Amino acid sequence: MNELQHLAIIMDGNGRWAKKNNLPRTAGHYKGVEVVRNITIHANQLGIKCLTVYAFSTENWKRSEDEVSYLMGLPKVFFNSYIKELMENNVKVMMIGDKTKLPSETQRIMNDAIETTKNNTGLILNFAVNYGGRDEIIRAAKAYAEDYKAGKTDELTEDLFKDYLYTKDLPEVDLLIRTSYEQRISNFLLYQIAYSEFIFTETLWPDFSPEELDRCIEEYNHRKRNFGGRNETKSN
Ligand code: IPE
Ligand code: IPE
Ligand code: MG
Repeated sequence: MNELQHLAIIMDGNGRWAKKNNLPRTAGHYKGVEVVRNITIHANQLGIKCLTVYAFSTENWKRSEDEVSYLMGLPKVFFNSYIKELMENNVKVMMIGDKTKLPSETQRIMNDAIETTKNNTGLILNFAVNYGGRDEIIRAAKAYAEDYKAGKTDELTEDLFKDYLYTKDLPEVDLLIRTSYEQRISNFLLYQIAYSEFIFTETLWPDFSPEELDRCIEEYNHRKRNFGGRNETKSN
C-alpha cells in the first residue's frame, strides 16, 4: 500500500461526453459538477487528505465567451447544491490560481465557500481555477525576488521555494489522474508532480465514478514508488 495524501485530477472530457450524448457542451460541464461532488464525498470517506481538481486553466480563456461564462457560473451551481453536504462531511474548500481575474460574482462565491468551511478538518477540496503551472512558478519567482530585495531572505532551497507556491500548505501530490484519454499535463501542477504517479483513464469525466476511483487507487497501491532510490524489486 502506498500512502495517498494528495490526489489531483485533470477533469477532462466534458465536451466529448456532451457530443456523444447529442447535448450542448454546457450539459457536459453541468454533469461534471455532480461528479465532483461524488468523488469528493468518496475521497473524504477514504481518508484522503487533499483532492485538487483542475476546473479552469489559464489557457481556458481561449474558449468562446459563452462557454467561459458558463464555466464561471459553475461554482455557484456547485456550492448552492452541495455546501450543506460539504459541511456535514467536514470538507474544507480551498482554491489555487489567480482569483483576481475571475468575475467578481465567481470570486465572491468561492470566497464564501472557503470562509464557511475554513474550520473543517476533513478532506481539503482544492479547486484549481484560472490556474497555470507556469504562471504559478513565475509568481513564486517574482515574490521571492521581492523578498530578496527587501532583505527578508538571502538563500533559496527547494523547501523555501515551496512556500511561494499556491500549494504551500498542501502535502506532495501522490497520484494524478487524467480522464478522457489525453496523456498530457496541460500546465497543471508542474512543480508539484515531480514524483507523482500518473493514471490516464479513457472514461470521460461526467462518467467517472467512485468505483473507478477505487480501481485507480488499487492500481496506485501496486506501483513501486522509488523517488530516485535503488529499486529494491530488482535483483541487482
Ligand atoms: C474539461 O472538459 C473541462 C474544462 C476544461 C473546463 P473539456 O471541456 O475540455 O472537454 P473536451 O476535452 O472538449 O471533451
Ligand atoms: C485541461 O483540460 C484543463 C482542465 C481540465 C480544466 P483542457 O481540455 O483545457 O486541456 P487540453 O487543451 O486538451 O490540453
Ligand atoms: Mg479538454
